Amino acid sequence: MLKGKMVNIRPLESCDLDWFTDWNNNPDYTGPFEPLEINSRDNIEKWHNSEKKDQWWVIMDKQDNPVGQLVSGPQGDYYWLGYIVHPDHRNKGYATDAVKILVDYLFRSKNIIRIQAGCNPKNLASIQVLEKVGFTKEGLKRKAIYIQGKYLDSFLYSILRDDWKK
Ligand SMILES: CC(C)(COP(=O)(O)OP(=O)(O)OC[C@H]1O[C@@H](n2cnc3c(N)ncnc32)[C@H](O)[C@@H]1OP(=O)(O)O)[C@@H](O)C(=O)NCCC(=O)NCCS
Repeated sequence: MLKGKMVNIRPLESCDLDWFTDWNNNPDYTGPFEPLEINSRDNIEKWHNSEKKDQWWVIMDKQDNPVGQLVSGPQGDYYWLGYIVHPDHRNKGYATDAVKILVDYLFRSKNIIRIQAGCNPKNLASIQVLEKVGFTKEGLKRKAIYIQGKYLDSFLYSILRDDWKK
């Protein structure tokens, strides 16, 4: 378990798969800027038990209830990350705190100099999260991501080890 000010994060476990399946099949949870992939509990369990490069995390509030999820994984020489917070728990600073914990963990535990994240230009909450954590916008990737039937633009953000040390 990695601890933050408002939330803690821990790896996704088998005991999470019921709520994880329900939440990830709910468009109010995933929102308009994430791929909506309807997946059965069985498929999610197979995926959870398979070998994968990406690490999935649960965001827990301080009462130990799940409030969202994070994912991080290697991409070439650097890592990328993504995040979702349940609509009942948004605008409390949870995503910002959780992303800070994950960035700290990745820079402390991996020999990397860069972490990257993408976000839709209309996703103002996500932009706020990245900028509050110290990510820098590098540019716009045009029609870079296929989401819910359309190719959408995506801002590219990164944080470097040097930014994080400051
Ligand atoms: C993006 C998301 C993770 C943010 O989670 P969160 O826990 O609410 O984030 P935080 O509370 O840490 O910060 C949200 C910030 O965005 C701001 N915000 C929220 N909605 C906003 C809007 N419509 N316009 C402008 N700012 C907005 C909040 O005021 C807050 O900033 P502040 O602390 O400076 O006031 C959440 O909205 C979500 O899960 N969305 C659906 C999935 C998604 O889009 N994930 C990101 C993919 S890149």
